[in-house]
Amino acid sequence: MPVTTDFNDNWLFEGRDTVRLPHTAVELPYSYFDETCYQREYSYEKTFTTDPDWAAGEVWLRFDAAMADARVFLDGTEIASHRDGYTPFSARLTGISAGTHKIKVVIDGSENPEIPPFGHVIDYLTYAGLYREVWLDTAPALHIANVKVETPEVMAEAKRVTATVHLDNPQNFAYGGDLTGEVLDGAGKVLASAKAVVDGAEVALSFDGLTGITLWSPTTPALYSLRLTLTSPSGTDSRDTRFGFREIAFTDKGFHLNGQHIKLRGLNRHQSFPHAGYALGRAAQIKDAEILKHELRVNMVRTSHYPQSKYFLDRCDELGLLVFEEIPGWQHIGGLQWQDESVMNVARMITRDWNHPSIVIWGVRINESGDNHDFYTRTNALARELDATRPTGGVRYITDSELLEDVYTMNDFILGNEELGGNRPRTPLRPQQEVTGLPHTVPYMITEFGGHMYPTKSTDQEQRQAEHVTRHLEVLNAMYGDPNIAGAIGWCAFDYNTHKDFGSGDRLCHHGVMDMYREPKFAAYAYASQGDPEEGIVMEPVTFWARGERNIGGVLPLIILTNCDELELTYGNFPPKRVKPDRENYPHLPHPPVVLDNRSFTPEELGVWGMKWERGSITGYVNGNPVATKHYVDNALPTKLQVVPDATAIGAHDAVRIMVRVLDQAGNKLPFLPEPVTLLVTGPAYRFGPATIPLRAGSTGVWLQATGAGEITVTVSHDRLDSTTVRLTAS
Ligand code: GAL
Repeated sequence: MPVTTDFNDNWLFEGRDTVRLPHTAVELPYSYFDETCYQREYSYEKTFTTDPDWAAGEVWLRFDAAMADARVFLDGTEIASHRDGYTPFSARLTGISAGTHKIKVVIDGSENPEIPPFGHVIDYLTYAGLYREVWLDTAPALHIANVKVETPEVMAEAKRVTATVHLDNPQNFAYGGDLTGEVLDGAGKVLASAKAVVDGAEVALSFDGLTGITLWSPTTPALYSLRLTLTSPSGTDSRDTRFGFREIAFTDKGFHLNGQHIKLRGLNRHQSFPHAGYALGRAAQIKDAEILKHELRVNMVRTSHYPQSKYFLDRCDELGLLVFEEIPGWQHIGGLQWQDESVMNVARMITRDWNHPSIVIWGVRINESGDNHDFYTRTNALARELDATRPTGGVRYITDSELLEDVYTMNDFILGNEELGGNRPRTPLRPQQEVTGLPHTVPYMITEFGGHMYPTKSTDQEQRQAEHVTRHLEVLNAMYGDPNIAGAIGWCAFDYNTHKDFGSGDRLCHHGVMDMYREPKFAAYAYASQGDPEEGIVMEPVTFWARGERNIGGVLPLIILTNCDELELTYGNFPPKRVKPDRENYPHLPHPPVVLDNRSFTPEELGVWGMKWERGSITGYVNGNPVATKHYVDNALPTKLQVVPDATAIGAHDAVRIMVRVLDQAGNKLPFLPEPVTLLVTGPAYRFGPATIPLRAGSTGVWLQATGAGEITVTVSHDRLDSTTVRLTAS
């Protein structure tokens, strides 16, 4: 491992502000901003002093990412450049004179049409900045540059590990010395070791006869590591790399992991956050993966539409969350130079991420672009050459498209198309052969649906949200029912800021099943409720529980998203009603919703417009036992200001989310309370966004960036309620 030093402090941004990385060049308002405001050049400068130890070997700066077209200058001379805004690059410092030097990084936030994803409009923002971290690495002259770990014959009794180790030798030393490798289990126990003589830039190691191995899967995300030690005349270098044992196969009968068929239920993720854009570090990245796995209960995420943070992917490995990772792009294919850059993006993505067991497919086509035989022959060939263990996919929305990839990955937005006229009745998904136009079935996966076909805000009327829910359920049901579809990845997990040409005119695509603060809309529970009840009960009625929120009044039909076997509803003093999941309309879902309608509640019982509204309760049963209850009041009033930080003990450089909700007497959010809350933050923390923010659908959020160690207090106040204070410790 190179010796790594944190190089993130004390950058002078635009010759003006001293900042720590990650950093966003322009902090944006929540919505309604001019997205060209950050589309220009910015500079970051930092002075540093050399260390006598550096003389012994190689020294370089490693940038995890910079948006975009970065140029790095050392004392005024350009020493490195990198166009792609999503992958790492380095700038070599070896041999600089002893003393103090200045590094300057110039980035260009404009949408340079020569660089993917630019050249035409795109439905997301690419926030300028040094938005990931920078490290200073030192290593012996001959050192380990990268390693690819593979686990052939995973299904055999005794397992194998092979490693292809790439060495860097910029000073052209004679190759020599030894490379040893050890395979360790999650507890650090050495399971096997191997040794090879170093006689070139690539060294192979293999480890045989490994027993007692736990295969990596969504339910058992067992991780192992390979510890490499290179001993050569130029010194000793080492590196630890995590990996997992697992075998993936996409066939025309779906996805198989370790020989077991798994239906893929996923959501797309953009890596953006309100105000901060891309620039939230480790803790926020980790939290997103946890939200997808534990709150949304999906088993797959697509990193639409670019390689995402290593922290996010590491957490996916740990959680057992499968990943579809893809190259940057959106519908547009540029000229030959642009395509060359895109082909390089394939290499950068794969060589950065090939050891993540969570990644099960590489997206090597520009999202939703047209066919381009030569270009996509190149991206596919390169992906297969670099990594023979994973299939390629290429996300398209056109039908009859040329299949150069291993998996036909399709954005099927057919549901809702009936609104455009035509003869096709409401259809959740098309059969794959209608889409592919091929005479035979092929490996096939749905990579998007929903989204712009039915944008839905968390403040939207209950009926619209019920339809939003229904559409997600219908597609999931169709996917589960079609053996030729490996899975379906909905558009999308979280609302995101976007260009003026998309979204609701407010620079926001309200396409998420969660809002930008990752607060669930009802549709979030369409996914969550498919999770196994043993891992958590879900019971979410799609209602704000009021007499007059819906057209003509009432709450029927009432969809209750649940993984319970049966629900009981009480209304006022009427006798309780028991209802089972709706297997008739959703025969294929693991957990169909319960739908209450006039069959279980007569209009006389629930009443009509003009009649008194009553309290209610819903109780969920599993195996005959009550497992969850929700109460609704008939006279909701603001009763409690709830303030929930994601964590109270955080790292000194972590960003932490704090959710604020106003609840009624029964603990339900007050969806239409638009009153603001004010946040007072003391201690070593920076608050993204304004101090006074409105509630949206009963909640709002804030990310605080710790600016060092110490006690942080956050006091949230609301005019009508007692203020609430939470205390965090950053260390
Ligand atoms: C797709 C596109 C996504 C997003 C989505 C909205 O066409 O791939 O990036 O724009 O539409 O529904």
